[in-house]
Amino acid sequence: MDKGMFSMQTMTRRKFLAYLGTGTAALAAASAGLGPLAGTAHAGRTADHMFGYKSNKVSGFFEPIAPSSEDQLILPRGYKYDVVAAYEDVINEAGDTFGFNCDFTLYFPINGSNTHGLLWVNHEYSSDLFVTGAPAGADGKYTAEQIRKLLYVQGGSIIEVVRDDSGVWSMNPKSPYARRITGLTPFRLVGPAAGSTAVNGATTVQGTFANCSGGMTLWNTVLSCEENFESTAEDAGLNPTHYGWVVEVDPFDAAFEPRKHTALGRFNHENTAMGLSKDGRVVVYMGDDKKDACIYKFISSKQYLPELGRGNTVLLQEGTLYVADMKKGKWVAMTIEAVTKRLNDANFKIPSSIKLKREELQAKFQSQADILVNTHEAAMLLGGTPTDRPEDIEICPFDNTFFVAHTNNDSHGNIHGHITRFFEKDNDLGALEFDFEIFAAGGRQSGFSAPDNLSFDSSGNLWTVTDISSGSLNKGVFAHFGNNGLFVIPTQGPNMGEALQFASGPVEAEMTGPWFTPDETTLFLAVQHPGENTEDISKPTSMWPHRPGDTIPRPAVVAITGFRFS
Ligand code: FEO
Ligand code: CA
Ligand code: CA
Ligand code: CA
Repeated sequence: MDKGMFSMQTMTRRKFLAYLGTGTAALAAASAGLGPLAGTAHAGRTADHMFGYKSNKVSGFFEPIAPSSEDQLILPRGYKYDVVAAYEDVINEAGDTFGFNCDFTLYFPINGSNTHGLLWVNHEYSSDLFVTGAPAGADGKYTAEQIRKLLYVQGGSIIEVVRDDSGVWSMNPKSPYARRITGLTPFRLVGPAAGSTAVNGATTVQGTFANCSGGMTLWNTVLSCEENFESTAEDAGLNPTHYGWVVEVDPFDAAFEPRKHTALGRFNHENTAMGLSKDGRVVVYMGDDKKDACIYKFISSKQYLPELGRGNTVLLQEGTLYVADMKKGKWVAMTIEAVTKRLNDANFKIPSSIKLKREELQAKFQSQADILVNTHEAAMLLGGTPTDRPEDIEICPFDNTFFVAHTNNDSHGNIHGHITRFFEKDNDLGALEFDFEIFAAGGRQSGFSAPDNLSFDSSGNLWTVTDISSGSLNKGVFAHFGNNGLFVIPTQGPNMGEALQFASGPVEAEMTGPWFTPDETTLFLAVQHPGENTEDISKPTSMWPHRPGDTIPRPAVVAITGFRFS
């Protein structure tokens, strides 16, 4: 068992007391009828404790830590972490192993338990140094065995996790559920682009990779998002139109064919945030994590029917994809009719970011499948607003506003990023009009830079991890922030928008995929790419998680819990 390191708080007493007050305000708001709205995937949490760290305070009680550059995962006083699974750990009796660079985590209770469940974990990308070795083929490319490994270490892991009587989380390596989904697993393409010429007629494709973040469906399956797929597709000689999708897997049922939902568009998918419109249709928010790229939402044609359970998956195959026009405050429907109309209008000026000529675009966009496969270009033609790398999106469980982490964009001076809060018209996720505000800005004044994954707790606090690139950490204007961290930002009350640091990660790591158990007694968190800038494998820049016998750093998932502190 690893114990989190402790650090002195640097927060002023005024700030700290005000923070405690925030939680109370949030609870009051909840009991006054603003409480958890049906339909978001966040229901059923209690709020009288924090990770089992019982106090007479409110949810969210902790003493914030200071930034650090130590090669440790540092937590506030009273909290510890257990390493649940690290790269290459055996996850089942078949000998499958945990993938590299873990990202999104999603806990599925077994029989409603908060101490026993399945954990889905994304694996985003590989490493020449720690995984495959540099390309070793005679042609300067990866060998077949290197490609197999490159594809195997990405995708997702399903592992069984349990918390024992002494409060320690571990993985059950004999689990009958545990399995891998990888770049080698067969997938079915579903939705309007399946079988179209835009994907070379494919209805089945090989594997998933570049799995960044994701989300939970209302029917208890996982959505995992293919983000920066280009390099792996190229290295492995695979058709790039088969990647860049949202994929769905049922962690409990291997017989449920893993699938890619083409109706949700193809781009650098960060995550999904699913909720319901007022009239009961499924709404999925998504960001395209690329400089000057857009925010999207999908609305299903038909209504969600809880009694159908997993059968609701078909809702993701038929509906409308919208892109956000932030100047007009409108969601623009992305249809082939709308794109064709624009291209046929001689007065319409092709945006300068698109390098193709009008005739080339007319040839490219012939069908709805073409829109879905080339989503970003279509969005630019339809007036979608280019933004500063939209990463995670989360729907606030209290008021149906949704939050977007715009991580940064150095192309036009947004060095530290910001978190944007969107207000849908009439608080209806199905609305076609919205307004927005900058909820929190990264920078020395707030103490965080480069917000990435988001998660809400039941007190309405937004948990935010940061992703300052390894090459920038602890240097220049990033020196203030130390290593990447995990911050808690109240969304209501006097400290609204103020970031309180809960964790500091190891050297050259980012922390990803924060996910609570339903009762919030445990927070799962992935530690990705510790020691990423290592040049000489015999001298790694990080050795986290510092397990005896290890000679390299290992990306790993941890379970954070509180313990009584006297
Ligand atoms: Fe994989 Fe957008 O971070
Ligand atoms: Ca991310
Ligand atoms: Ca999230
Ligand atoms: Ca990132």
